[in-house]
Amino acid sequence: MKKFLLITSAIITLLSTVVFGRPGEEEYLANNNEHTFIQILSWDEAYEKARPLVEQMSLEQKVNITTGLGWEGGRCVGNTGSTINPDFPELCLQDSPLGIRFADGVSSGVAGVNAAASFDKEAIRRRGEYMGAEFRAKGIHVQLGPGVNMLRAPEGGRLWEGFGEDPYLAGIAAAETIRGIQSQGVMATVKHIIGNEQEINREKYSSEIDERTINEIYLWPFARAVEADVASVMCAYNQVNGQYACENDYVLNQLLKTKLGFRGFVQSDWAATHSTDLSVLNGLDMTMPGDITFHSGDSYFGANLTKAVKEGRIDEDRVTDMAMRIVASWYKVRQDEGFPETNIDSFRPENDKHINVQGNHHIDIRQLGAASTVLLKNDDNILPLSISRKRKLAVIGSDAGPAKNVLNCPDHGCNDGTLAQGWGSGTAAYPYLITPYEGIKSKVGDRMTVTKYLDHTNLKKAAKTASDADIAIVFANSNSGEEFIVVDNHRGDRNDLNLWNNGDELIKAVADANENTIVVIHSVGPVNMPWVRHPNIKAILWPGLPGQESGNSLADVLFGDVNPSAKLPYTIAKNPKHYPATISLGNTTEHVIPYEEGLYIGYRWFDKNDIEPLYPFGHGLSYTKFQYSHGRVQVVQGRANNITVYANITISNVGHYDGAEVVQLYLTYPAIAEEPPRILRGFEKVFIPRGCEETVSFKLSKEELSYYAVIDHDWVVPRGDFVLHVGSSSRDIKFSKRFTLD
Ligand code: BGC
Repeated sequence: MKKFLLITSAIITLLSTVVFGRPGEEEYLANNNEHTFIQILSWDEAYEKARPLVEQMSLEQKVNITTGLGWEGGRCVGNTGSTINPDFPELCLQDSPLGIRFADGVSSGVAGVNAAASFDKEAIRRRGEYMGAEFRAKGIHVQLGPGVNMLRAPEGGRLWEGFGEDPYLAGIAAAETIRGIQSQGVMATVKHIIGNEQEINREKYSSEIDERTINEIYLWPFARAVEADVASVMCAYNQVNGQYACENDYVLNQLLKTKLGFRGFVQSDWAATHSTDLSVLNGLDMTMPGDITFHSGDSYFGANLTKAVKEGRIDEDRVTDMAMRIVASWYKVRQDEGFPETNIDSFRPENDKHINVQGNHHIDIRQLGAASTVLLKNDDNILPLSISRKRKLAVIGSDAGPAKNVLNCPDHGCNDGTLAQGWGSGTAAYPYLITPYEGIKSKVGDRMTVTKYLDHTNLKKAAKTASDADIAIVFANSNSGEEFIVVDNHRGDRNDLNLWNNGDELIKAVADANENTIVVIHSVGPVNMPWVRHPNIKAILWPGLPGQESGNSLADVLFGDVNPSAKLPYTIAKNPKHYPATISLGNTTEHVIPYEEGLYIGYRWFDKNDIEPLYPFGHGLSYTKFQYSHGRVQVVQGRANNITVYANITISNVGHYDGAEVVQLYLTYPAIAEEPPRILRGFEKVFIPRGCEETVSFKLSKEELSYYAVIDHDWVVPRGDFVLHVGSSSRDIKFSKRFTLD
């Protein structure tokens, strides 16, 4: 069934490369990215509007809007049934978290993991806005993103769709993305609740997560999404503590709807519904794509749901609640006023109106690509490169060049040419893809000699190209994606953290041949770096998955038009055995994944066990130097839980370039809280011209100061001594100060 989808997407892709070209330089310079912003309603206002409409609906009509039309039953990957008299439209639900899947004329920008690496709240929001603007212009009601599953086992196939290993960072990135998307009148979907951290066996395994860890780690980004007024939540394929997520009373009713107060609708992942009564009673509001299995012709909702109500097994009030949640969400983002007709068709491209919705979004994409490129190492200040006729630059590796076959293979389930997004449903067709080689060439023009070997197979050729040049830039990648496509023997999840396509050997061959070697890694997450101490490797850059403007964003950083300011949203270990978790293979009958590390995900594990990482969470260099001074902490203690802690610190740019610093705040809690040694609880990205300084302020309230006390089943601010740390990574703390709450 997914095969058909692959063929159609290939046709669309082909069309997109023919019809939509790349923007000219002039267009690039004309930065007037103006969107029309929608004033969204409060939930109370939205429910007030929804009530009279839903009250007129018959039971069958209410059921109809909760039930998808079935796989390929409409123009989108999911469509709901509509009603006439009262009128409620068919809703179009479409992937993905980074752009529009199965369509042309769309942008294909940076992945979630890059958005996180930027640590730039405003840029993340703008990313949401341009995506929202595109979904709206295509007449798509619901965007199936952002994804917030956590980078627990670094091999997890879809973790690049999300925001890394820290829940606080993921929470902010999710909230900003959602605000951006919904400001354009499109409903956002935060997914997949909960425990969907690996691909293998995802429809079977049970993620066993204790109450505290659920609340502090895996639910945290969902909580921030609810605070940001997200319209929809998608439940996961897997089970959580022995019960399917889409019929899990604890997850959907007790946590999401009751504790977090979520008032939008819960939709199932595609064919993740397993029952009628249990799902509906335990909190599922919409089944997607509607049929039990693709093309099965029946549904757990639809006639089965109507019957369950008529037989008294489900109260009609619950169905009214489901319909209310859907209709209110629609009103909330004002889709009752002038929302465009759906003009894409995922499965019948001949019906697609092929509207180009890219606007000038490539500007934001290029900027965010550069702002999310992490400079891991820069010995002898080899970067930024100056453009000089006297120096010859070699660009080496298939990851620096174009695909040998097609630009957009179906659902990106291939690893051909430079890597700029993973594979699966979390993708969007590139309108074009600027390769690193092209980006570098167009930056230097004929002001520098650039030679190339855009392959990875012949190490001798690679070494020769490198030794003939003054500087060698060598590229390698590591890819992953969704389990319905197997690429190079990886069933979604990565089999290991090694580079693909001979990457380690290629890097070593180049470094042996050129004493000014720069390594560039396009990857979905952490990779092994056995060559990291090679004396000729002077710089390492991680541009992650930068999307369509890849080469331009990279060239902006390489040649210093943009001073790097991104930080790692995950830890890179010296040894893959150092990570707290890996993929669980299980067996086919029963598959339990115990989240044994509990709260100690990512850097928390390394800190607790005193393991030195290769590159810590939050690490990323700049071309300039920042000094931290005048740190101050002030506690304002009101009654009960009403406590606010303020912190200020002055950051001075004492180097030679203008630049932005991500100032990170970590907290050590009183021992009674039994928290990991340090937890991220604030960050601000500030741009500071050279020679200037800025004061950065943080405000910590109950949300940041609490821990989840299992005994109370609630968040509690512990009494005692805290230590507040401010630094430039989780392991580069510049200022620490103790404060006491009593
Ligand atoms: C994925 C979802 C996606 C859906 C629709 C599922 O396989 O897990 O993330 O939104 O398909 O394509």
